[in-house]
Amino acid sequence: MHSHESKWPLLGIEFDLTDHQITDVTNRLCLKLQKTREELLNQSFDIVLSSASRLYFLSAMQTKLQKGIDCEQVTLYFRSAAGNIMCLCDAICQGGGKVALTMIIADRHLLLERQLMSERDETNSINNELIKRQHELFEQKEEKARLLSQMESVTAELLQTEKLAALGQMAAGIAHEINNPVGYIQSNLNTLSQYAQRLINLIHRASVSDKQKDASDFEFLEADLLSLLNETQEGVQRITQITRSLTQFTRRSGLSDWCDVHQQIDTTLKIMKNELRGKVEIRRQFAELPEVYCDPAQISQVFLNILLNAAQAIDRFGYINIVTELTDDKLIIKIADTGCGMDTETANRALEPFFTTKPEGDGTGLGLSISYSIMRSIGGDLRLSSEHGKGTEVFLSFPASLVLKEGEHGS
Ligand SMILES: Nc1ncnc2c1ncn2[C@@H]1O[C@H](COP(=O)(O)OP(=O)(O)OP(=O)(O)O)[C@@H](O)[C@H]1O
Ligand SMILES: [Mg+2]
Repeated sequence: MHSHESKWPLLGIEFDLTDHQITDVTNRLCLKLQKTREELLNQSFDIVLSSASRLYFLSAMQTKLQKGIDCEQVTLYFRSAAGNIMCLCDAICQGGGKVALTMIIADRHLLLERQLMSERDETNSINNELIKRQHELFEQKEEKARLLSQMESVTAELLQTEKLAALGQMAAGIAHEINNPVGYIQSNLNTLSQYAQRLINLIHRASVSDKQKDASDFEFLEADLLSLLNETQEGVQRITQITRSLTQFTRRSGLSDWCDVHQQIDTTLKIMKNELRGKVEIRRQFAELPEVYCDPAQISQVFLNILLNAAQAIDRFGYINIVTELTDDKLIIKIADTGCGMDTETANRALEPFFTTKPEGDGTGLGLSISYSIMRSIGGDLRLSSEHGKGTEVFLSFPASLVLKEGEHGS
């Protein structure tokens, strides 16, 4: 062992197992124990150990070593002037009853291990924290995306409502302006018709020769004059009809009353008898409903517009299903038809004033926009869902505030 000293500076000590006399010791260990080699050689190995380690050596290691079994990785405390030094030792049997003990100082090794462990713990906890933060960020991102899309749809809805309201107001304004001249055109036309008729009669009675009549194409003039006047009158009537519908956007009768929506629906269906006959079967699924506080004329106008659209969408034969229900905060009426349905473009534009797919002269394109504006004005809603070729469903909702009778508020 001594011979390795210079090449391999290690902490080591050799002693006799029987009398514990130290037979060799490395310089490095001498330095650590702050003793000279001479002070240690031939002394008892027991004096370099702490009392606890001495006991441990005697009880746990001595017998094993005597049987020739090495003891590896044991912790022993060595005495030095500066206090005990903890060492990790290997005790190896050398033959001839000798034992060589090599060691490394455990303090640094343990310290390092402890430091590593605590660093590992710290890294782990930082990792966990990072994972947690990542989850949180992910959730926040999802929440943000959800809110954003919610905001987008609310903004779109607001824009749509504003656009419709503005268009409605404008249309109603124009209608009002048109009404006056149309009024006197109508009245002048009536007078004009009467005058024309009188002039024609006069010519018939006057002594105008057939030759003179032929020359001025009298027969044609007479027939065409009357038909022109008729056509013009029809045109004016149609203008009156359109302007009347348009003014619905702003007209509020103010005559609200408690009304039974089921009764309103049935009355509307009776008015529509001709449109329904032979091609539409009505199926009702009515819930028990309280009365609704609204303007009955306006509400039946909504029903009429929607039911007419449904009937017009059915070509040969089909159904209109009317379902009513009451939820906690709404009264809902669904009117579904098995008609032609709408493609996406039509469904998106159906609520716009003047949007129509019906042949010119058939539809004004105002039915749904007026109904929508009426429903919004009472705090309710109108929504469409449609599938091309399958049919259309219109959802109407009335706020609960219109359903509660006075005195029932807050009950
Ligand atoms: N139930 C339905 N089935 C299929 N398409 C519909 C239905 N309801 C509405 N539409 C479509 O929406 C358009 C607009 O409807 P809206 O009631 O506003 O006007 P209109 O029916 O064309 O004319 P008006 O109601 O003034 O006679 C219709 O032209 C039609 O294309
Ligand atoms: Mg219509």
